[in-house]
Amino acid sequence: MGPHQPSTTSPEAAIRPGKVLPRVRVQVPAKINLALCVGGLQPDGYHRLGTVFHAVSLFDEVIARPVATPGIVLTARGEGAEALPVDASNLAHRAAQLLLDRFPETEGGIELELRKQIPVAGGMAGGSADAAATLLACSIAWDLDTTPAELHELASELGSDVPFALHGGNALGAGRGTELMPLLSRGNYHWVLALSHAGLSTPAVFARFDERGDQPDTQVPQGLLNALAVGDVRALAGQLRNDLQPAAIDLRPELGEVLEYGLRAGAPGSILSGSGPTCAFLAESEEQAMDVASALSSHPQVRAVRRASGPVPGARQMV
Ligand code: C5P
Repeated sequence: MGPHQPSTTSPEAAIRPGKVLPRVRVQVPAKINLALCVGGLQPDGYHRLGTVFHAVSLFDEVIARPVATPGIVLTARGEGAEALPVDASNLAHRAAQLLLDRFPETEGGIELELRKQIPVAGGMAGGSADAAATLLACSIAWDLDTTPAELHELASELGSDVPFALHGGNALGAGRGTELMPLLSRGNYHWVLALSHAGLSTPAVFARFDERGDQPDTQVPQGLLNALAVGDVRALAGQLRNDLQPAAIDLRPELGEVLEYGLRAGAPGSILSGSGPTCAFLAESEEQAMDVASALSSHPQVRAVRRASGPVPGARQMV
């Protein structure tokens, strides 16, 4: 569960005119689904999932400044920020609003600044990460007495991937993806991430999955859990599974080429991250990751390459 570090600031101090207002800085990781096993479409419009979340060291930051004037003011900078809405449609904005609705006694407003490194619409849960970081940052900035369980509950209301962004590490996800069970694992895994020129819409990829009529199956491969438990990188590479991958490749055939290209460059495993379009490659060592990254950086369908490692903790206050 996401930690709730107590604030040293009372709401009175935060809104007193002339006082230097404290700011709260929270760092939050991106995720890869090591397994994304997709079940049938439910009446609520969501698919049942069996998934293994893995948090990687590609981070967004949310900086929250409590201000005397009520309201939420959001700005964004960094990776893909120019494409992000900063109004009430942004999930981070909705996260702050959800806290205001739940804690109506909150005084003053908040200025939120997103510093992005996680690709926008990249299948790495960047928007969910920002929402999770906002929940934590605003809870601290407004000195709300939220427990980790309350934050988890609020996160579930915001989106399927938001609770995991609070949680971090490795976790088994069920239901819509919001029911989490921590997974013990050994080892530190090296990843290469190939970013795409354009984002993919998650609902569009799930819709294509339904059209294809692929067999629904939420059972996470036991071999993958075993590989994680013992820290066997080659076994893990062979067990990576994403049921949305064929649907995403239907919509964007070049993703299949990129996934193949990284394997030929020496990566033992490749997988589309979530609903894509980011392609993730598992390497056996940092040196191998550097070689794979270098090869992928010259592929015309790859906009940029990042290296990351996992697992890493979830949303954390930075001091
Ligand atoms: O929960 P979140 O807002 O992240 O989901 C975005 C969209 O992805 C949903 O509106 C739905 O179309 C699709 N989705 C799904 N089944 C899930 C999670 C997401 O169909 N378990």
